[in-house]
Amino acid sequence: MKVFKFENNTELTEVVSQFIIELARSKSQISICLSGGSTPKAIFDIWATHYSEVLPWMKLHFYWGDERCVPPSDEMSNYGMTKKHLFDKVIIPASNINRILGENDPEAEAARYANLIQTKAPIFDLVILGLGDDGHTASIFPENIDDWDCPQDCLVASHPQTGMKRVSISGKVINRAAQVAFLVTGASKADKVKQIIEQRFKYSDLYPAALVNPKNGRLFWFLDEAAAKNVVAEDKWDTI
Ligand code: 6PG
Repeated sequence: MKVFKFENNTELTEVVSQFIIELARSKSQISICLSGGSTPKAIFDIWATHYSEVLPWMKLHFYWGDERCVPPSDEMSNYGMTKKHLFDKVIIPASNINRILGENDPEAEAARYANLIQTKAPIFDLVILGLGDDGHTASIFPENIDDWDCPQDCLVASHPQTGMKRVSISGKVINRAAQVAFLVTGASKADKVKQIIEQRFKYSDLYPAALVNPKNGRLFWFLDEAAAKNVVAEDKWDTI
């Protein structure tokens, strides 16, 4: 596991972009599984304005770790947010975009997406994860932490407060990835970041994010100063 701390989203995005460029350098294409939420939205805005000519978009094939069960036009849609903040602003083939169809029946879509993952990206080159204030990741929530061990690649989850249904990848998909990167910003995450980075086993019954431990892959934490205020970032980017 390597922990990187950055002053701001610009610095964080610069390193994440370098990381992706390095991953893509020796391959004809790479599969990147995106998360939703506000953290990636800020990164997509920077990619759209400063990296449209820098990142190898033709090589990047996008998937999602979770999607709310709403149409893509809904403001809650993770794909819809990504399209608005990124895909509408860079040149990327439609065939590179493998969205979860939030408008479909949730159970049927979980089965369809599981099959799509098995067919097109059984081992993701990179899974990008966020961290919820409650320790959730993707759409695996503490209230239903057993969802992590779902035997299928995808499952239907419900948000504990709103009840909104979501299609999510399961823990086995995350832990078989080649690289997993948590992108976490904000002081509200600092306690969970410390608990999970420093005492993963102690919190693995409580927080789904503490169960992220890629079997044959590499785990990275890309944090802003606020989220990282309680941890030591031992690594410098050039040692990745
Ligand atoms: C989602 C995300 C979710 C998110 C965390 C952190 O669909 O909501 O996949 O897991 O990554 O809730 O969200 P923020 O980046 O907004 O803090």
